[in-house]
Order: sequence, then C-alpha cells, then structure tokens
Amino acid sequence: MSVLQAKFTTEMVETISNMYRLGWNERNGGNITYLLEKKELSEVLDINQVQREIPISFDAKRLAGKFFMVTGSGKYFKNIKDNPSEVLGIVKVCDCGKKLNLLWGLEKNTKPTSELPTHFMSHIARLEQDPNNRVVIHCHATHLIAMSFTHCLKEENFTKTLWEMCTECIVVFPEGVAVIPWIVPGTNEIGEATAKKMAACRLVLWPHHGIYGTGCSLDETFGLIETAEKAAQVYTYVCAQGGKKQTITDSELKDLAKAFGVTPRVGVLK
Ligand code: 13P
Ligand code: ZN
Repeated sequence: MSVLQAKFTTEMVETISNMYRLGWNERNGGNITYLLEKKELSEVLDINQVQREIPISFDAKRLAGKFFMVTGSGKYFKNIKDNPSEVLGIVKVCDCGKKLNLLWGLEKNTKPTSELPTHFMSHIARLEQDPNNRVVIHCHATHLIAMSFTHCLKEENFTKTLWEMCTECIVVFPEGVAVIPWIVPGTNEIGEATAKKMAACRLVLWPHHGIYGTGCSLDETFGLIETAEKAAQVYTYVCAQGGKKQTITDSELKDLAKAFGVTPRVGVLK
C-alpha cells in the first residue's frame, strides 16, 4: 500500500473536499494538521527516509518525535483530488523542536501551512487535556465569520446564541466557543493566544477570519465545526427574518444538558 492509499490520506482528502464544497476554504484558505501513529505510517512509508529539513520559528520540543500529516501553505483545497502530494505532506518533529523532517509530499518545495505555530501549539494544549486528540482544523466558515461582525464577542454571549440556534449545540460543545482578539495570522502571537484558549475549549473563533476546531478524529473535528457553523447560519436567517420571537430557554438548555450527561460552561445559563 502507498501513502496515497492509506486510510489517513483518503480521509484527509475527503474531509478537505467536503470543506471546500461547503465554502469554508476559498483559494488557499484553511489548513489541517493530523497526528499520525508511527505504526500506521510505517506500513506505507520508510520513516527514516528524510526528503528535506524544514526550519520552524517556535519551540515544538513537546511534540518531538511525533508524525503529522499537514497541509501546504498557499495550496488550494479545491485541487486536493488532482494534487494530493503537493497539497499534503508528512513531517516528523525533530528532537531539537526547531525543525521538521519532511518524509513525504509537499512537492515542488511547498512549505507547511503558515499557521503551523497555532496548529502545533494547539496540539500541545489539547494533548494535555486529552491524550487521544489528533486533529486541528482551521477554516473560513462563512456564517461564523459574519457573526463575528454583528454579534457581541463576549464568549458567554456568543456561546449562548449558538446553543439557542440548534438543539444539539449544547450537547456537541458544552464547553462553549472561545474567542480571541483580532491578531495578525501566521504569527506565534496568535498561536499562543489560541492555544491558551484550547486548554478549556475545542473551538476557538478568530474574529473576522475563521475558526479553529480540534478533536480525536477528522470526522469528529469536522462535525464540531459543522455544528457551530450550522448554528451561525441559522442565526443569520433568524436575524434576516426579523429576529427571535421565541427561543430555547435557559431552563430547557439545562434540561438538555442533564438528559445528555454534559456539563454546560459556567456563566452562560442563568
Ligand atoms: P496557508 O495557505 O498558509 O495554510 O494559510 C491559509 C490561511 O487560512 C491563513 O489563515
Ligand atoms: Zn485562515
């Protein structure tokens, strides 16, 4: 079996195609990093064969020795099916934490995503909370971006509105959505701000830019973002239809949380 036939690659191509189809990844927008197991990788690749070294601008020592599938910077998700070995790459984090060994892909001298600081810092933060965390996805989810212009950005308020828009939201993201200030993308600064929020939340909104989601699989992470984005879409329609006339009440949201065995973030419900 080749890397292109491996389950982790076909899943990645499928996820990226779905994200593009939903309009979340115009041009080169969005990026994914996927922590791979040594065993699944060794079955399709000689993990000691280094194609090239890639320096990184931050300390990734806490991920030393780990293997990731990453998307390439400037690559169009639209073209993933024609071009998987250019859009995707497999890297190993070196022991020094200051460079990556490229093992496969990122052809034509492609660099890993410019958002690597946020991705790797988020992996570190999430792995501390959940050793099964594998995936970080960033995309430009349309309705969440729109909401970041019209809705109060206080996390409790933003979360409450999303919870109200679709019954399943509080069950899917009971810890709510975190929000950081607007910061220049691609920087270590935005990475640090995002990772700090990731200690408590799997969803972090970048106002006027997009969203980050994390999870144990591509499906779970995609589904998390999809659920928040759907709620933001409903909110857009509700506003366009003249605003709420009724809603799911706080006590109903509490009943929901109880029925599904989740603990809602403190400070959102009265
Ligand atoms: P990359 O093409 O470098 O992954 O950047 C896309 C993006 O969404 C930046 O925030
Ligand atoms: Zn982006």
